[in-house]
Amino acid sequence: MSDPQRCPVIHFDHHSTEHAKDHVAIYRKLREEAPVAWTEAHAGYWVLSSYQAVFEASRDDDLFSSGRHDEYGGHGLSVTIPKAPTAFHIPIELDPPEFRPYRKAVNQVTSPAAVDRLDGTIKHYVTGFIDTIIEKGEADLAVVAGVPAAVTIDWLGLDPAQYRQYVDAMHTLVSAAPDSPEYRHAAETAVPWVSRTVREHIAHRREHPADDGTTHFINAEVDGRRMTDDEIYSILELVISGGVGTTASLVTQSLVWLYRNPDQRQRLIDDPAMVDVAVEEFLRVFSPTQALARTVMRDADFHGCPVRKGDRALLSWASANRDAAQFDNPDDVDITRWPNRHVAFGLGIHRCAGSHLGKAMAREMIRQVLARMGDYVVDLNNVVTYPDQGTNAGYHTIPVTFTPGERLLGDTPLFPDHYTRSGA
Ligand code: HEM
Repeated sequence: MSDPQRCPVIHFDHHSTEHAKDHVAIYRKLREEAPVAWTEAHAGYWVLSSYQAVFEASRDDDLFSSGRHDEYGGHGLSVTIPKAPTAFHIPIELDPPEFRPYRKAVNQVTSPAAVDRLDGTIKHYVTGFIDTIIEKGEADLAVVAGVPAAVTIDWLGLDPAQYRQYVDAMHTLVSAAPDSPEYRHAAETAVPWVSRTVREHIAHRREHPADDGTTHFINAEVDGRRMTDDEIYSILELVISGGVGTTASLVTQSLVWLYRNPDQRQRLIDDPAMVDVAVEEFLRVFSPTQALARTVMRDADFHGCPVRKGDRALLSWASANRDAAQFDNPDDVDITRWPNRHVAFGLGIHRCAGSHLGKAMAREMIRQVLARMGDYVVDLNNVVTYPDQGTNAGYHTIPVTFTPGERLLGDTPLFPDHYTRSGA
């Protein structure tokens, strides 16, 4: 039964098949008719779809908390609805002031300068993943989506050859339908594997420091002290979860769109420098992280709606990114759009810590695919999208044919043996 205190009440479930089929149209209608509204799905939550509402909520941490509040029902990741069964994630599940020193520690290894230092690693994996398909002339182009996972796992000093297992855990939790067999496998088997493996790695790195992200967090100071294993694990699991799926989602959607728009694809092939600006537009229209949640901390009026302490609220970055009040012709994809103040990385203090890394990987992936296999033809009848597009949107499978090319890595192995080299 709907609660008369909460209005307007809409029929909406971002995890439904209906939503996966046409979330762009569903959000457009919501923005026009009820930019802040209540749905009874998943025990009830507010849906914020206008740019202004999303902007205000994500900048008001006192009213809309990103923190984990198990006292308001359900245990699990506070920024998803329903809550995903993951470990406590730092810094996203902390509010200020506790949040700040942890975010500072994360920023030190995700700044533009730090990402520049990963340039060689990014190029290596993009080259190597394309090498695995380039000679055949037909492939699943979604293979390149392994790049962000391999880069992230390598950067943390974990074994990059196991990248797929991290994807199966962290990415599946946000892209498979809740209660599907894949989701259950992720929650019951794959995530516990990640937990064991990463915790062992932290213990190992305490004894055998190396030049990697994990060692950085072991040495980082928070309020004048070193972090515990639990705190470091909380950060690493979030970084893995942020790193493995989002950029893959961005690149797979961009590559399919470029196939559907051959004149735009040709522009980027002719002038690869345009890819930087095009990626901003792809972030806006595809919004890889579609929507994340907050918890309301006190009774208040928000955009004329009576939000109450303990209510959950979904902030749709995807919908804000297509709000005509903010963007001219929001449904047109203009690869030269500039300035482009999209909110695909969120807004406010929790704005994505990995935005520079995500963009650096996406640019290199798109540039190399266009340079090395730019005539790819997508079998549109057999592409497979994520079954659930509510939190992350993208493609699992993109069958393509293209003119075969040469491998470029030569004898260099795709997965360098970092882990054993540094003392395992
Ligand atoms: C295209 C790629 C990416 C997209 C679209 C994206 C999207 C987002 C969004 C929307 C948020 C805000 C969450 C909120 O306010 O609730 C966020 C936070 C975050 N992202 Fe990303 N992300 C991407 C890549 C990455 C990568 C590669 C990493 C790995 C370093 C990463 C790590 C994080 C972290 C640690 C946070 C939490 C920041 C905090 O709470 O202060 N992301 N991301």
